[in-house]
Order: sequence, then structure tokens, then C-alpha cells
Amino acid sequence: MTGDHDLFLRACRGERGSRPPVWLMRQAGRYLPEYREVRKKVDFLTLCRTPELAAQVTIQPIDRLGVDAAILFSDILVPAPAMGLNLDFNPGPVVDPPVRSADDVARLVVPEIEQEVPFVYDTIRILRRELTGRVPLIGFAAAPFTLAAYLVEGEGSRSFGQWKRMLYGAPEVAHALLDKTAETTIRYLVAQVRAGAQAIQLFDTWAGLVSAQDYATFSLPYVKRVLAAVAAEGVPTIYFALDAAHAAREVATCGADVLGADWRAPLSGTHVLQGNLDPCVLLSDVATVRRRTRAMLADGARLPAHIANLGHGIFPETPVDHAIAFVETVKAFRG
Ligand code: CP3
Repeated sequence: MTGDHDLFLRACRGERGSRPPVWLMRQAGRYLPEYREVRKKVDFLTLCRTPELAAQVTIQPIDRLGVDAAILFSDILVPAPAMGLNLDFNPGPVVDPPVRSADDVARLVVPEIEQEVPFVYDTIRILRRELTGRVPLIGFAAAPFTLAAYLVEGEGSRSFGQWKRMLYGAPEVAHALLDKTAETTIRYLVAQVRAGAQAIQLFDTWAGLVSAQDYATFSLPYVKRVLAAVAAEGVPTIYFALDAAHAAREVATCGADVLGADWRAPLSGTHVLQGNLDPCVLLSDVATVRRRTRAMLADGARLPAHIANLGHGIFPETPVDHAIAFVETVKAFRG
């Protein structure tokens, strides 16, 4: 691949191109009318499990926004049923039964993942055929800490009290669980790369729940293990830890090629960074989107390389024109 098709993967490797590449976290989703059209006909999990449809919605933002990378349409909880748990969405994930004890952890399966979620790999193979010569494909998974947080809590939560109760009160049980979520995630991601994913992003959405010291104990070692196993497959890795600026020193040692920055974090330092416009900026107006995006790009120009993105997922109520203004402002930038 040459020219613009190449910008994203080159930036992952620390090369500065003619402009920063751009994509949006959660770029396939309900803010797009063509996504809502598909969702009228199927529920979210059926969409994830039907390769032709998952591939179709993955490509929607490439056509509509002109972003420089595609991200597999799936969800971080998709491996949960393969571990022996029931999964539903309402609209956030609901895992049943929640994992609360050493016995519950012992019962969890570390699956033969390609047999359990073949639709993920079929979707990737379709996408590589359809995207070749257009944009690279990013695969993803939850970081072991964030996957474990959902398995224990059973659903999203403000405080994740059940998960913290296990971390603090029964750390050996938490570590046994993290070992299983890490091993499952390694298998899940290595198989994504072998099916054709060209970069991998690890989402640690709940990393910021705990202190830097607890992060270093319960998340970081498992993140390092997963990222090393993925890197050994020869693709670049991106690690996005939300609300974890207090643990920036620890996060910086994870071994990822690219670190995700949320909108609270400064775009500075010696790493390749991805981010970090506050997704709420896209709720304002086009002039504000352009002004704030240019300010972000000016900061990014001082990095070794910068991948323009939002600081977290795009909101469903975002006007499509504002997402387009964000992408076009990046594409017009010469830093
Ligand atoms: O980025 C993309 O376009 C790829 C698809 C993607 C989805 N979820 C689709 C989705 C990705 C990368 C994810 C990751 C994900 N899922 C994370 C990590 C990123 C983050 O936001 O921090 C988390 C925490 C989840 C768990 C999850 N899934 C929640 C909390 C929800 C409900 C919130 C919501 O947006 O409604 C989901 C459902 C979900 N995952 C939807 C989509 C498009 C909405 C489903 C629908 O169509 O109703």
C-alpha cells in the first residue's frame, strides 16, 4: 500500500507522514442512520455474529466519513460466552451468572476460541477482501482487567464494587481470573491477526477505577503479557486506558507501539499517541469542531507520530456532519 492507505500503519510504527491518520473510536454505531437501518432488522449480538452484516457496518464509516482505518465490528464482551457465561445487551453488556468466587473462576473455560466465535474470524476475512487497497483493519479486545471487571460485576457499574471487593478481599481469586481472561484474550487476538487483522487495540476502559499501585498489580502485568503475544505476531499494538493519567508512568511501560490518550490527558511526551478530542466537542458546532481539532493537531505535531482520534467513543447523538468536519479538518492539516 502507498500514499494515504499507509498512513495509519506507518504512524503506528512511529513514522510521520504527510498528515496524521484519523479514525474514531466507536465509528460504526448509532449516530449513523445507515447503522440504525441495519439494527432495525437484527439485535446487536446477531449483528456481531453475522459476518456479512458485521462487515457491512464496519465499512459504513469508511464510506461515510473517509477515515483512514476500519475497526472490526464486534464487542469486548463477545468472548464471554466462549468462557461459559451467558451474554446479553440491554443496551450495555449483561453477563450471567456473574463470577464471584474461586469456584466460579475454576469453572471458567479458556476456550478453543476459533471454534467458539468463528464469526469473528469470518468477518475479518471478508473485510480484508473488501478493504484491500482502501484502509487497514484494526482488531480489538478488552484488556484482561476490563474483561474481568464485567465478568465479576455482571454489568456496567459506576463503582464496580463487586470487582473491587474481589481485588482487595480475595486478590488470589482475582489473579486466577485475570490469568484466564489474559490467556483467552491472547488466543482471541492471535487468531484475529492470523485471520487478517493488521493492528490490534486493547481497550482498558476500567483501568482508572484503581490507584496507580493497584493498576500496576492487577492490570499492567496482564496487559504486558497480551501485548507481547500480539507483537510476536508482527502487528502494531495500541493500548487505550481510560481515565488513567494518575498511572501514566506505569502505563508507559506496557510495551504498546501506540498509547491511547483520553481527552483529559496532555498530548505530549515521547510515545506515539492516539487521540484525543473530547467526543463532546462533536456535540457543539462545526466551527468549534474545526477550531478544537486544529488545536489538538498542533499538540500532536510535537509527538514522534500522532494518530488523530477522539478521547473516547463517539456518542450516538453526534450529528454526522460534525464527525465529517472532524475528519476533514485532520485531512486538511499539514503539520
Ligand atoms: O469502534 C467500533 O466502531 C467497533 C465496535 C465496538 C463496539 N464496542 C460496538 C458496540 C467496539 C470497539 C466496542 C468496545 C467496547 N464495548 C468497549 C470499550 C470501548 C469503550 O467504549 O470504552 C466497552 C466498554 C464496551 C461495552 C459496551 N458495549 C457498552 C458499555 C455498550 C452499551 C453502551 C452503548 O454504546 O450503547 C455496548 C454496546 C455496543 N457496542 C454498541 C455498539 C455499536 C451499541 C449497540 C447497539 O447497536 O445497540
